[in-house]
Amino acid sequence: HLWTSSGSLPITDGPAPRPVIGQDSVEVLGASYPRDDFTNVTAKILDKVGRNLHNQPHHPLWLIKERIKAHFYSSYIGRWGNPLFSVHDNLSPVVSTEQNFDSLLIPPDHPSRKRGDNYYLNRTTMLRAHTSAHQRELVRSGLDAFLLAGDVYRRDEIDASHYPVFHQMEGVRLFTNHEVFSKVQDGHELSLFEAGGRRTPQKQETHSLEAVKLVEFDLKNTLTRLITYLFGDDVEVRWVDCYFPFTHPSFEMEVRFQGDWMEVLGCGVMEQELVNSAGAGHKLGWAFGLGLERLAMVLYSIPDIRLFWSQDERFLQQFRLPDIQQPVTFQPLSKYPPLHNDISFWLPEESEAGRESFTQNDFYELVRSVGGELVERVSLQDEFTHPRTGRRSQCYRIVYRHMERTLTQDEVRRVHQQIEHAAETELGVQGRY
Ligand code: PHE
Repeated sequence: HLWTSSGSLPITDGPAPRPVIGQDSVEVLGASYPRDDFTNVTAKILDKVGRNLHNQPHHPLWLIKERIKAHFYSSYIGRWGNPLFSVHDNLSPVVSTEQNFDSLLIPPDHPSRKRGDNYYLNRTTMLRAHTSAHQRELVRSGLDAFLLAGDVYRRDEIDASHYPVFHQMEGVRLFTNHEVFSKVQDGHELSLFEAGGRRTPQKQETHSLEAVKLVEFDLKNTLTRLITYLFGDDVEVRWVDCYFPFTHPSFEMEVRFQGDWMEVLGCGVMEQELVNSAGAGHKLGWAFGLGLERLAMVLYSIPDIRLFWSQDERFLQQFRLPDIQQPVTFQPLSKYPPLHNDISFWLPEESEAGRESFTQNDFYELVRSVGGELVERVSLQDEFTHPRTGRRSQCYRIVYRHMERTLTQDEVRRVHQQIEHAAETELGVQGRY
């Protein structure tokens, strides 16, 4: 890896080779990718690649990962006393678009492929947008039960709960006919698959209803046990039907914690076409993907997602526990005062065929790459269309705050001016000052 391959060395300090965004190519994790018209990854984002917060001992994301591992290791034991689930946390976040989308049956024109929502190195290579990108390769490698933790990348707005890099834990389990029906009376007469069936809200066309119901029950049971282990016995859980191209039926799990329902994961019965293409066509499986920051923020009372990237000892030291099971409540660092500054500009004219030449995410991206960690929030305040010319203008408020010190007016003004300048030169907007 780019930073260090040794798991136990501190990897956040000291000089490290920097990823390079060149004229014709982008270098990341020691490989070089030719640029093309899809390239939109920024240096700020590439800086995060290789940080591997989930592998830094005692980091809160590592702590959650270790607790989930401990639960699966102790609760699911194979025939010879070995852990049933293998754990993978070192797969490169650089994946092909084929892995991230096609392998999961996401159609070529699906909105989740939008350039505005993802970080592309070029047309065929990207930073993974979810850990599901590895489902097919791990199933193909012969695994029947695995957990996979990793950093994932999505272009997003900036606020206390959204950050363009976060971490997910994926889980997959496959079952043979015998594994599904062995505990059922006369189960040997039942089958996972049926010919000539129909797809219904309950099941896929090739699956038998009885197999799906048992696998779905195992999935929900596994996840309810995991969440109860993390949150304690009083936690309330509910299931919401939803849609993913790679599972059917699909569910979201919501957890009621301190009065609020929050969505913690997506899951479902794996699409058989995916399982077949991974060479496990005689098995049926479930999969889930959960967000680690979400869980850590609630479990440890971490108020702002940007804190996960802090290298401030006052943050990190609070998670250095002798025992991963010990409860922690984060004591907030003193909050330094915010400063805000507004920016207004005329948008560029729409180009041919009504194609948008400016998107809000482009602006958020630009603010993030110029203002970095100083930017706490960007929000659209106001929009205006000139009655005569039809020109559109927007006004954004940028809230600046440093997590670790008080910012000066002067410092903020300089950054703000750089943002104004960059918006004009890079996005073709025209400032209204
Ligand atoms: N990959 C999905 C997401 O990021 C979550 C998911 C994983 C859903 C596995 C179903 C099965 O939202």
